[in-house]
Amino acid sequence: MGIKITDKVSWVGKVDWELQKFHGEELSTHKGSTYNSYLIQDEKNVLIDTVWTPYRDEFIARLQETIPLDRIDYVVVNHAEPDHSGALPALMKLIPDTPVFCTANGVKSLRGMYHQDWDYRVVKTGAKLDIGSQELLFVEAPMLHWPDTMFTYAMGESILFSNDAFGQHYASESLYNDRVDQAELMHECLKYYANILTPFSRQVDRKIKEWAGLDLPLSMICPSHGIIWRDNPLQIVQQYIRWANNYQENQVTIIYDTMWNSTKKMAEVIARGISAADSDITVKMYNVGKQDKNDIITEVFKSRAVLVGSSTINRGILSGMAGILEEIKGLSFTNKKAAAFGSYGWSGESVKIITEELRAAKFEVINEGLKCLWTPDRENEARCYEFGQGIVAALEGWQKV
Ligand code: FEO
Repeated sequence: MGIKITDKVSWVGKVDWELQKFHGEELSTHKGSTYNSYLIQDEKNVLIDTVWTPYRDEFIARLQETIPLDRIDYVVVNHAEPDHSGALPALMKLIPDTPVFCTANGVKSLRGMYHQDWDYRVVKTGAKLDIGSQELLFVEAPMLHWPDTMFTYAMGESILFSNDAFGQHYASESLYNDRVDQAELMHECLKYYANILTPFSRQVDRKIKEWAGLDLPLSMICPSHGIIWRDNPLQIVQQYIRWANNYQENQVTIIYDTMWNSTKKMAEVIARGISAADSDITVKMYNVGKQDKNDIITEVFKSRAVLVGSSTINRGILSGMAGILEEIKGLSFTNKKAAAFGSYGWSGESVKIITEELRAAKFEVINEGLKCLWTPDRENEARCYEFGQGIVAALEGWQKV
């Protein structure tokens, strides 16, 4: 049975407590996730999004307990990615003539994945659908985070169904933002933004401004993952504006990959140099070979500067560091300074390679980096310490964004 969130709207999704990886193995989801689907029961009954494929039977059973399937008049697909459309083919076998509302790119994605010619009804921004006591307003939101994405707004109840935007991979039976651990919730929102939405920050900022221009009331934001924002829903919108505009905290993050701990030792002494120069700066340090890459990327997103270290191997850098640098490059972070460091035994290319990668990722490289032959001795430890102090000197005065 669905869970009523208003007289007319029910949550009919799935809480996935055990999900640990998303997008294949690409994204860690330590707190599980939810796939939120919503049913609006008005003079016309409308289903908004479905759930991920493995849960299609459970989803259809829950939906059937909530409404006879042949009474669903319309299906809205806000976004065609399989975590939201995965149950659609099975559902549409049962209600094949039901119109499917989505964007033109939504049709391309659905056809491309499921090869079905359902009764697609293409909508653009400003299109409305009369469902009885209220209208649904559609607003395209391309690249938040796929080309097909759109929002649906229930005009009578002032509810925004925002799909991935404002969501989090956060399993909870509590359903609402005011009923969960606030620190956990905001951390998962931040991790979601940093790892998925960062490359589209300009579109996020533009879409929020466009939405604000419509001057519509907002009682709830119902995203497709995680909790529903009913207590001060604007708080997550305001947070998105901060994150979309060169966000940083007073933090320096050191990430390294190390073979025999010489690069690790460099990292630790550099960290001491930073802290000694400015104890207000939060310094965090991660071994990319051992720690979760998406957690590390979240910390990179928060940072003013990122220091990146690797041993040299076979005239290159360690594969763990190469992998995360590739991902960081794709995320297009802005407003970050950076520098490289690393130990070596004979050829010593790692610092040069990392520096080039940081420039390619559009970081502002502070200096030419720091190399250390073999394990740092007292003299090289002093150089690492000064390197850390030099990073602080290169950071301008701290201004909270
Ligand atoms: Fe939650 Fe882009 O799918």
